[in-house]
Amino acid sequence: MTKPFNILYLSTEIVPYARTGGLALVAAALPRALRQLGDDVRVMLPRYGLIDPARHNLKRVIDRFPVPFESGVEYAGLWQAPDADLPIYFVEHDRFFGSRQGIYSFPDDGERFVFYSRASLEAARHLDWRPQVVHCNEWQTALVPNWLHTVYANDAFFAQTAVVYNIHNLAYQGIFGHRVLEIAGIAKYGFIAHPDVSTSLNEVVSMVGRGIIFADVIATVSPTYAREILTPEFGEGLDPLLRDRQNRLYGILNGIDTENYDPRTDPALTTCFDANNIHRRSSCKQQLQHNAGFEQNPDTPVISLTSRLNDHKGYDILSTVLEPLLRQVDAQWVIMGAGEQRYHDFLFDLQRRHPDRLRVHLTFDEHLARCLFAGSDIFLMPSHHEPCGLDQMIAMHYGAVPVVRATGGLADTVTDHRPPITGTGFTFDAYDGMALFAAVVRAVEAYRHPEIWAAIQQNAMTKDVSWRRPALAYHDLHRRAQSLKLTGRPG
Ligand code: GLC
Repeated sequence: MTKPFNILYLSTEIVPYARTGGLALVAAALPRALRQLGDDVRVMLPRYGLIDPARHNLKRVIDRFPVPFESGVEYAGLWQAPDADLPIYFVEHDRFFGSRQGIYSFPDDGERFVFYSRASLEAARHLDWRPQVVHCNEWQTALVPNWLHTVYANDAFFAQTAVVYNIHNLAYQGIFGHRVLEIAGIAKYGFIAHPDVSTSLNEVVSMVGRGIIFADVIATVSPTYAREILTPEFGEGLDPLLRDRQNRLYGILNGIDTENYDPRTDPALTTCFDANNIHRRSSCKQQLQHNAGFEQNPDTPVISLTSRLNDHKGYDILSTVLEPLLRQVDAQWVIMGAGEQRYHDFLFDLQRRHPDRLRVHLTFDEHLARCLFAGSDIFLMPSHHEPCGLDQMIAMHYGAVPVVRATGGLADTVTDHRPPITGTGFTFDAYDGMALFAAVVRAVEAYRHPEIWAAIQQNAMTKDVSWRRPALAYHDLHRRAQSLKLTGRPG
């Protein structure tokens, strides 16, 4: 095996400490998988006020160290969770993090995350631990490669350090005014203009744009999304930058943590099972039907959805066909999630009119999510765009057959069932209600044929969705990034 690398992994969310979306799951699992391949991966997270220091037994490692900030310095502290099975550090700053309960959406998010990113680099110096690669995630950490090309360009400590910039969702760009450059200490280098990027972007600071321009390697979370973001439809205005750096852009499909999500041992399930005992799953379905107040009929397929209730997740098209589906297709629906009020109202009203067919839970509940993966027959994910998507993989692993729109990582993980080819689920292409309707009908039809259904379910459950392969790909990509930085060649 190759020489071990020190990898500094920066993420503003990681389970079990702070979570808003899929990034938190990835940031917990990928560093662990890379450590199993021999690298010294260390993770840094802001020490948010919502992280309970007693519960995680946090210990102070560095009392106080200076972090360049604006024209002076601010001081940070560094804490560690020594009991965690991964070296994880917490960057302390009372005003930016400690005294607040939330994670994002404060008016000074630019300052907060510039500080966290810069403090993470300085913390590595104070630990005297030189990273060969800084692995940055999302806009919050996207100035790191910009700094390595400017303020740290002649700093011996970071001379060998390359940056992999990981995009999880291009829709979140971190757009700020000029002031963020002053705070970051790079104002003298100015705005970066690109002739093909709209003027509005040339007059603001796009954190993601800077990540794309300066990273040694850009990674995103599925091969299809890596192609999609090169187009104006998915590029969120940054596709010209991405096209310029296309030879540095890689799409690596995420995995799921198959120890945490394991239907053989999951304590949330009424009955545990695996691909060799699929019949045992039926008691999870029964329980789900019972809890939902539905008739406990094994022949009626249960369709589930768990996602944020917004247009990105497909609620605009779903809302045009859900009522016809409830009326015309013999199935029971359990929908969980929170989001836009109009979709809460819409679902609540439908549930009132179809209580025997629809049950809604308008908050996110991890326990219920696991019961849906284990007990429903069909798992629906009609996203408009989906860089990777983890839930369809968890669903497959738990034997719920996915019905998805073929975009991004959904297209890369679900193969359409088209006889004579037995798929792992059902996909549709056009982003419209009728296409969604037809895909659900196809799945419900297949469900009526137990042998066909069992074959699809087997395919879904036995598909390798673990981190094993993706971790190997990132292991190689980190080496490629450093080689590109040091020699200009991929190695
Ligand atoms: C973002 C994307 C989602 C992806 C996740 C983890 O939340 O929207 O598709 O699965 O990041 O990479």
